[in-house]
Amino acid sequence: MIEKTIDIQVLNDFEKGLDPRHPERSNIPARIIGYGEMSTIFEINLRSLDNYAFKRMPIFRSTEEIDYYEILYREYNRLINDDIDVRIPESTSVRVIPNEGNMVLYIVQRKLPAQSICDRVIKVLDDNSIGKLVVLILREMKKVFEFNASGGNITIGFDGQISNWAIKDYDGSGPPHIDEDTQFYYIDTSTPLMSEKGVEKLNPDLFLRSAPSFMVWLIKWFFLEGVMTRYYDFHLVTVDLIANFYKEQRDDLIPSLIERANRFFEEEASELDTAPITQKEVHSYYREDALIWRLYLSLRKLDRFLHTNILRKPYVYILPGKIKR
Ligand SMILES: Nc1ncnc2c1ncn2[C@@H]1O[C@H](COP(=O)(O)OP(=O)(O)OP(=O)(O)O)[C@@H](O)[C@H]1O
Ligand SMILES: [Mg+2]
Repeated sequence: MIEKTIDIQVLNDFEKGLDPRHPERSNIPARIIGYGEMSTIFEINLRSLDNYAFKRMPIFRSTEEIDYYEILYREYNRLINDDIDVRIPESTSVRVIPNEGNMVLYIVQRKLPAQSICDRVIKVLDDNSIGKLVVLILREMKKVFEFNASGGNITIGFDGQISNWAIKDYDGSGPPHIDEDTQFYYIDTSTPLMSEKGVEKLNPDLFLRSAPSFMVWLIKWFFLEGVMTRYYDFHLVTVDLIANFYKEQRDDLIPSLIERANRFFEEEASELDTAPITQKEVHSYYREDALIWRLYLSLRKLDRFLHTNILRKPYVYILPGKIKR
């Protein structure tokens, strides 16, 4: 059991000595292994924590908020793994309560080989295998959207982008072989979007905490509704997955991936009645998405500058450097 092997005291010490601007210079040094849009994932350089990946979420303002989030997080993971049958790496969450400022939740996951994460995998596969990989990922996602369509009270929001998948049991030696038996892990479970009878259970404000305060109202007005609801829509989640290939500098593959996805919708998932994807839609989605995130990141950097240089208050979030899109 992963819970029993995590030394909570070490995480407390880690948080105390963390340098969010330069994590590698922290008292207990850490190495960043992944940036998402909203969070940072790192490994901690201690032998006892060698097998884990840590996602730090310094966003909670009260115990009630953490309690509620943790319940949702666990329920979301349980549903996906046990009921929907999409595998998730072993994981747990650990709280760290600093003397001042937000409470921090660390999501701890078994660390997977970097070469097994699918944005890396597509760099070493031939084009045909990439096509097969995308279809296999669609097959995993179909289970989620079938669950959503099955008429229960709960529906699941799901973010199927390529960097959220890993090839299971692949140790990274040689290009992986992709066939019908290839199995996957879904790793990005820290945004537990769940809706009960049409009402979202996850408090979206939590994910705006890391946004500059001067932007929160703007995000709420313009984006939030769309951003939250698109994860419930198989068509849009697939558009997002395919648009990733722009970011990965493989836009040459997009037409054939669209073709495969549309064939999948028609032949393998016909009961879900998913509208076919067009080239134009993927392109304009990508441009808009890239623009939003670039803007968002630069405003966060401005916010960090204001905090540290003008307000002279600590800035607790870790921001990525330049992201190539
Ligand atoms: N358990 C893990 N083992 C190895 N690498 C991981 C693990 N978890 C995350 N990563 C790396 O970090 C990247 C980002 O992780 P993840 O998708 O969970 O967060 P995220 O995209 O920041 O989430 P969000 O955008 O919802 O905040 C992954 O694509 C992967 O490269
Ligand atoms: Mg992710």
